[in-house]
Amino acid sequence: MIIRKTAAELEKMRRSGLLVWQILQKLGEMAREGVTTLDLEVAADQMIRDAGAVPAFKGYFVPAAGEAYKFVLCTSVNEEIVHGMPSAKRVLKKGDIVSIDTGVLLDGYYGDSALTVGIGEVSEEARRLMRVTQESLELGLEQARAGNRLFDICGAVERHVTSNGFSVVREYVGHGIGTKLHEEPQVPNYVDRKNENPRLKEGMVLAIEPMVNAGKPDSRVLKDKWTAVTRDGSYSAHFEHCVAVTSNGPWVLTRP
Ligand code: MF3
Ligand code: CO
Repeated sequence: MIIRKTAAELEKMRRSGLLVWQILQKLGEMAREGVTTLDLEVAADQMIRDAGAVPAFKGYFVPAAGEAYKFVLCTSVNEEIVHGMPSAKRVLKKGDIVSIDTGVLLDGYYGDSALTVGIGEVSEEARRLMRVTQESLELGLEQARAGNRLFDICGAVERHVTSNGFSVVREYVGHGIGTKLHEEPQVPNYVDRKNENPRLKEGMVLAIEPMVNAGKPDSRVLKDKWTAVTRDGSYSAHFEHCVAVTSNGPWVLTRP
């Protein structure tokens, strides 16, 4: 069942969304050569608590990993796709691209968003990967309209990625969001006719999060049980926003 939110609930989700946006803006500016991914983690933890919110990821149990996640951020560098763990040993260097993903719980409602930033001079190909991934997210958000179906979102993302010669990761997907971090429906970044294709209705809120590889789509998880990487070692980019389906069209909650 896909839970639909009232206008009052959407206002609360808006506050969670704007908090996540604010945090990601700060972290995006902080992410420079010489900074560690743990530095980003510490700053994010402080900002979340200062706002009177609770980190959404820390303590979140993920069945595939068989344990709870231990950080407030996922920081996924270069060939890491998602669920990279902040570390004092991971010093950002010129040419890296880093996906910063975070979520908060504020006043009972979740917000979840991610962006990928380049460190110093980044290769032309990596810049194009980030641009195409972000564009694919925008095209997906644009489809979050009452009367459309889920596949309109999935297909818009997938078409843009594949027509630009990149590939969509299949093992990780977006999701509904509300009083839980992950609600129905799953929001894949590709169309698979075997999946359900519900009609979108007012009040639904979706976290759309394309994960796009420069090379082949295949992924594997490192021995740390969390970090998903590309099998071929190619770079991967990730952007995410939460969007509400409203009578006025898509309302992106996680940016002003
Ligand atoms: N944005 C990701 C998601 O919504 C991050 C989850 S990390 C986790 O699934 F550890 F909390 F699972
Ligand atoms: Co998410």
